[in-house]
Amino acid sequence: MRKVLVTGGAGFIGSHTVVELAAAGYEPVIVDDLRNSKERALDGIAAIIGRRATFHRVDCNDGEAMEQVFAEEGPFEGVIHFAAYKAVGESVQQPLMYYANNVGSLIVLLRLMRRHKLGRIVFSSSCTVYGQPEVLPVNESAPDRLASSPYGFTKMVCEQLLRDMAHADPTMAVVLLRYFNPIGAHPSAAIGELPLGVPNNLVPFITQTAAGLRKSLTVFGDDYDTPDGSCIRDYIHVVDLAQAHVKALQWLGTQEAPVSDVFNLGTGRGSSVLEVVKAFIAGTGVDLPYTIGPRRAGDVEAVYADASKAREVLGWEAKLDLHRALADAWRWQERLK
Ligand code: UFG
Repeated sequence: MRKVLVTGGAGFIGSHTVVELAAAGYEPVIVDDLRNSKERALDGIAAIIGRRATFHRVDCNDGEAMEQVFAEEGPFEGVIHFAAYKAVGESVQQPLMYYANNVGSLIVLLRLMRRHKLGRIVFSSSCTVYGQPEVLPVNESAPDRLASSPYGFTKMVCEQLLRDMAHADPTMAVVLLRYFNPIGAHPSAAIGELPLGVPNNLVPFITQTAAGLRKSLTVFGDDYDTPDGSCIRDYIHVVDLAQAHVKALQWLGTQEAPVSDVFNLGTGRGSSVLEVVKAFIAGTGVDLPYTIGPRRAGDVEAVYADASKAREVLGWEAKLDLHRALADAWRWQERLK
């Protein structure tokens, strides 16, 4: 079995990727300290793949504990590094915590990879590096903009660190994946997003409101320069996104090190907040109280992906549409009741 180390493998995107890795014949080894995820994700993974995935409850910043994982479980064919904090607003309040965790854990990991002569890494990045792009859909050669949050900066710093490593170290093979807006859940409803506290993101807020856990959704702004005035994003089903990680790993296996490349992962289709709200109501038939509120600080008006590079190079494209993603997110929410 070809082992793959998956940091943050109990998280939202990590857990779905573990499932797709197993389906593709890899043996995922999960490292997660469950500070932002739950044991339940591991049960869900087991229900889907028919066995418990190997799991180490370890903080990726803990070099000694990580060394033990490498010694016990290695050698690995590659690493997929999800473990990171991801709340934009929180990062503004607690920048030190964000830089220490998001950049620190990557440094620990890269040191270990070097010691164990492992060069292959797939990294979770974000379309946040584009800020508000001048040209839409945005492709990978668009310039990075100053990120609007410390969270965004940690993604830029980690991307740059990995590019610099690939430049300096002939054994490195790096893929940077820039996610647009991941939503949905596994069609089995065995795994999905588990937001802690009040969700920041649109779709978990919608499903919690529809479930009666929140009173009403606030649409953050309807005075943007878009057809209906609300912000436009590229919502991508988490299962599609997970499959892209497997493709990226397979692609790295065909490349001669050193290599570093970057890919947008989106559907290529932009949807406004109000379109998402209406699609949810139409698709589920569930009442969704909402009001229009002021803009949220730091939001860009519109961003959606040119995902043609991932299609041409990795042979990957998103197959599941917004309606399917919302239906799966809702089925998962109902399972949580
Ligand atoms: N929105 C609302 N009401 C809510 C929550 C969100 O109207 O209660 C709107 C936002 O204003 C935005 C859209 O829904 O227009 C999507 O918001 P999300 O918070 O779901 O997602 P973002 O696009 O803000 O953030 C995502 C990722 C971040 C990443 C960012 C990059 O969650 O990790 O994209 O643009 F940094």
